[in-house]
Amino acid sequence: MKLRAVQGDIMQQPVDAILVNVFEGAASPGGAAGAADKALHGAITSLIADGEIRGKRGEATVIHTLGSLPAKRVIVAGLGKQASFTADTVRAVSGDVARTLKRLRVGLAATVVHEAGAGGIEAEQAAQALAEGTLLGAYEFSRHKSKEEPAKALELLVVERDSKQLAAVERGLKTGAVIAEAVALCRDLANEPANHMTPTVLADTAQRIAKEHGLEITVLERPQCQELGMGSYLSVAQGSAQPPKFIVVRYWGDRANPENAIGLVGKGITFDSGGISIKPAEGMEQMKGDMAGGAAVLGAIQAVARLGVRLNVTAIVPATENMPGGSASRPGDVVRAMNGKSIEIVNTDAEGRLVLADGICYAKHLGLKRVVDVATLTGAMGVALGSVRMGVFGNHQELMDRIKAAGDATGELMWQMPMDEAYKEQLRSEVADIKNVGGRAAGSITGALFMDYFAEGVQWAHLDIASVARTDKVSGHLVKGHTGIPVRALVRLCQELAQRQ
Ligand code: BES
Ligand code: ZN
Ligand code: ZN
Repeated sequence: MKLRAVQGDIMQQPVDAILVNVFEGAASPGGAAGAADKALHGAITSLIADGEIRGKRGEATVIHTLGSLPAKRVIVAGLGKQASFTADTVRAVSGDVARTLKRLRVGLAATVVHEAGAGGIEAEQAAQALAEGTLLGAYEFSRHKSKEEPAKALELLVVERDSKQLAAVERGLKTGAVIAEAVALCRDLANEPANHMTPTVLADTAQRIAKEHGLEITVLERPQCQELGMGSYLSVAQGSAQPPKFIVVRYWGDRANPENAIGLVGKGITFDSGGISIKPAEGMEQMKGDMAGGAAVLGAIQAVARLGVRLNVTAIVPATENMPGGSASRPGDVVRAMNGKSIEIVNTDAEGRLVLADGICYAKHLGLKRVVDVATLTGAMGVALGSVRMGVFGNHQELMDRIKAAGDATGELMWQMPMDEAYKEQLRSEVADIKNVGGRAAGSITGALFMDYFAEGVQWAHLDIASVARTDKVSGHLVKGHTGIPVRALVRLCQELAQRQ
């Protein structure tokens, strides 16, 4: 799928399909849809009157032009209600349309930037949302399928009438493509089966990304992690035949100001069997995606580097499998994290917090003062918030506010969860400083509070993405499988932090 901005009149494009839009409840089509309606002798108006075109989001009506326009078809896509029209709508509609084009095997299509003027959205922002939606809505993870037919290459012309707006449209498309490619990278890594995405493969992929985009990279091997005292992280790795890889990627967007920085720590469990506290068989295959947080921070740093954001960003991915091998850690074992705190491992399935504890300590070791971690941490997150919003936790209100604002701006919605000290009672251990589980009650909160012991002294926010990292539905820019959430929110956060310097 390729996107290209061109100046001209959409009605004059000799393409397989032109895309026009109508709002829900509109009696007559406006803008490009109005022009297409005229050329089609009122066909759109008449289909609206008949009730076939209602303008609902997700609706796509194909009209064959039979020579009345240079284009072979007009596709009328519904935008939903005008009152709720935002950049999120543009992204969603573009995703739906991209799949319609694929299904119709359209090779070359043309669209306008959706209602840029009338919808109250800037052309650049609308073009960015259009690119994100189109590229991500057409996303497929099919590399393990023996192909019957190769997918047809699709090109979408984004036609802008006003020459003065063309540069803005081009900029938006470019930014959108960079962000969509970062989200697709995250999806690819998380969708990949665990036998193909081992810690070693993840580290090699990070090496490739770093090389391609001029990023600094260090991969710490087990002996180096031992030397650093990462007993908590290494305890998770000890039951696996796969060697752990502690991945650190750095982008220097503002070298002159080393303080202008953020650390992004992503949970990198390439497969979570639960360890000795083994998970039930049903659904365990989904645990190949337990490195979605790690994949998200790698996607985010790639986009931030390509966009040249003026911020120093460090992505840290403590990667390992969680397996029940003969040398696996046992319930009741006590280990020590990099900051010297001792941990009683009561449940080996609460491994995410064990690897993140040392991940956050390492961010501090690098001198970072601001850290956001991203993790498929607790099943309890889905009980609390379902799959609409992810939970935000942390020790610094301003950082949490900024990340929530980035979530609102990108449609990757979040909800702040409580962090009362009183919950820490549940983590008290008889034998060590703390234990790694706090019982069934408030499971996501006690998971976050466990990490609070390691985030002391830094501004820290934690995103629990367990219930939003993957989806079974196909809608808008999201398709079945991994969503790539919260790559777009993380990139937005970095852009916002950079601007405020
Ligand atoms: N990776 C899981 C959390 C998870 C569950 C992610 C479902 C995505 C979907 C995590 O390591 C885990 O097993 N958490 C336990 C914690 C419990 C033992 C305190 C859980 O949620 O049950
Ligand atoms: Zn687990
Ligand atoms: Zn896990």
